[in-house]
Amino acid sequence: MSVNPSFAGIKACVFDAYGTLFDVHSAVAQCRSQFPDPDKQADKTSEIWRAKQLQYTWLRALQNRHLDFWQVTSDALDFSLESVLGNLGPAGLRDALLNSYLTLDAYPEVLGVLQNLRDRGLKTAILSNGSPDMLERVCEKSGVGDLMDAILSVEDVGIYKPHPSVYQLAVDRLGIHADHISFQSSNAWDATAASAFGFKVAWINRFSQAPERLPGKPDAEIRTLDELPPLL
Ligand code: LAC
Repeated sequence: MSVNPSFAGIKACVFDAYGTLFDVHSAVAQCRSQFPDPDKQADKTSEIWRAKQLQYTWLRALQNRHLDFWQVTSDALDFSLESVLGNLGPAGLRDALLNSYLTLDAYPEVLGVLQNLRDRGLKTAILSNGSPDMLERVCEKSGVGDLMDAILSVEDVGIYKPHPSVYQLAVDRLGIHADHISFQSSNAWDATAASAFGFKVAWINRFSQAPERLPGKPDAEIRTLDELPPLL
């Protein structure tokens, strides 16, 4: 893909964390053998866990009852295990799964792409639902933290994406106008909301999902982050 005029004048690349830089399904992958019937239960648990985690963020935002992402992730895990296994599973499984969220795998292209962007003088940042402690741990383990100018958490505004105050946090902290920020997410709802806010947006459509019918439209749709540097 060649340089995309929408991205002219970009000064900073801001990334969603979970699903975009880090593979959320690697938590279950790391603990797969601890499931009583891995082939029937592991992938299903992972899918429900992620879907429920996001639902809880949106529902809590609507109810104005914020709890941090560690707690939401833990509640969603309990829901998914009970849904699939009928209970919280064999001793140790639940805690091992939750702790795996601190050691999620970064997608294979992530470190190389971040280095490329920084070599070109672009600022890099994370803007995530994750709590500061979760983000710090996963960034340190993967090496992503060394390649970020800022790691921004919704905890600083006390409400989850896609509330506009979350996207405003990146503008305020980086001191860069929204027009000059390229936002990357593989969560289509996050990509559209960031576009509606005013960022330039690359939707990393890793799983060939259909576009959302929501306000905002990503400026580019790419398959992996490898395709980002050539756009800029
Ligand atoms: C995040 C969620 C949306 O990292 O994946 O903000």
